[in-house]
Amino acid sequence: MTDTGARDADVAVIGGGAAGLMCAHVAGARGLRVRVIERANKVGKKILMSGGGRCNFTNTGTTPANFLSANPHFCKSALARYTPWQFLELVERHGIAWHEKELGQLFCDESSKQIVRMLLDECAHAGVRIDTQCEIGRVAVGDDGRFRLATSHGDLVAAKLVVASGGLSIPSMGASGFGYELSHQFGHALLPTRAGLVPLTLSGKHQQRLADLSGVSLPVEATCNGQGFRNAMLITHRGVSGPAILQISSYWQPGDTLQLDLLPDADVPALLARWQAERPAAELKTLLGEVLPRRFAQRLCEVWLPNRPMQQYAPAQLRGIAALLQAWPLVASGTEGYRTAEVTLGGVATDEVSSSTFESRRVPGLHFVGEVLDVTGWLGGYNFQWAWASGHAAGMAV
Ligand code: FDA
Repeated sequence: MTDTGARDADVAVIGGGAAGLMCAHVAGARGLRVRVIERANKVGKKILMSGGGRCNFTNTGTTPANFLSANPHFCKSALARYTPWQFLELVERHGIAWHEKELGQLFCDESSKQIVRMLLDECAHAGVRIDTQCEIGRVAVGDDGRFRLATSHGDLVAAKLVVASGGLSIPSMGASGFGYELSHQFGHALLPTRAGLVPLTLSGKHQQRLADLSGVSLPVEATCNGQGFRNAMLITHRGVSGPAILQISSYWQPGDTLQLDLLPDADVPALLARWQAERPAAELKTLLGEVLPRRFAQRLCEVWLPNRPMQQYAPAQLRGIAALLQAWPLVASGTEGYRTAEVTLGGVATDEVSSSTFESRRVPGLHFVGEVLDVTGWLGGYNFQWAWASGHAAGMAV
């Protein structure tokens, strides 16, 4: 894999992840001499660990509304020009069996290794050279407008430079802030970065009230800052996780309170009225234990709700109970951070990058693709679709 031969290329791609490998093989297939520089010991590590080892490689329902960015329009062009169906066509051409899990999420039947193998085969076919375990030092633009990269494998000169170095999440997998530093060096603005799609932590009494329920899971609708997600929540020994929480974490900022509808599929006022009419002697905690995990229902009635036989509640009290069950406030103290986050929010500001070619408006020949940009998808295959789409667009444009 490692090649230390001629150090001259038409295109240098920094980062052999999803976006970089897509960009590299598309540019290579156009006849360009492409070299990928990867600091880790192998490419595509996040692809390998994704989707529980089966890679949720796209989402058939992808729309621009599934992405967070200071400029929500930026992602539109690339997503329209390279769709989930085009990536699926590539997957099928390589004989990779796949299945839809839920909500348009497509996974490999066997292993995410197949997606990395597919990208490497495409790169090999297109003559792309890949340097792994290669550290980049100084990057400069020469008088001829070409990029000069000092690397641990020697100097490299390239007409075009594609920054595909990803975000900060999972540093143990090779993540680095290199792309951000490089964009800053070339005068690009950076939007503040923070962990996204990440478990939330609780502290003090908020943590103590739930800590012994670690492992309890229930369907909720989690809402914060005008955005809501209906899916499972999992109580952990440090706080809360599960798909509903990971999704809403990208919309949560320190100081915000989350609201959780604990019975998202029920008409809660009608349910309480029915219990009062039909089972007046039964206690609230017993009845809630029939529709919620029992230990969680008990804890609700110990801490947040007055527990009595249903016949003893006045109408206003029942309204209060319904309101709490539909908007249970959860005060998170923070997130588990980049150590476990699936993505990094923020990054290279999109206003000085072309949404069609992904070329910098400041430095001709410099491109940014994938997660390093201020575009972040929801959980469910959207982030890979962004990597494929932006990588494809840049691969066609360099
Ligand atoms: P990516 O991180 O893939 O690649 C960047 C590459 O650049 C890495 O190989 C890195 O080593 C390299 N690099 C960094 N600094 C460098 C430097 N200085 N020099 C050279 N190389 C450097 N998304 C999804 O859609 N479906 C899913 O199932 C999952 N699952 C998932 C699980 C887990 C545990 C994580 C952490 C993330 C996911 N994701 C996901 C998110 C997805 O993995 C992510 O959004 C994409 O990989 C981003 O693609 P990029 O190519 O931009 O970065």
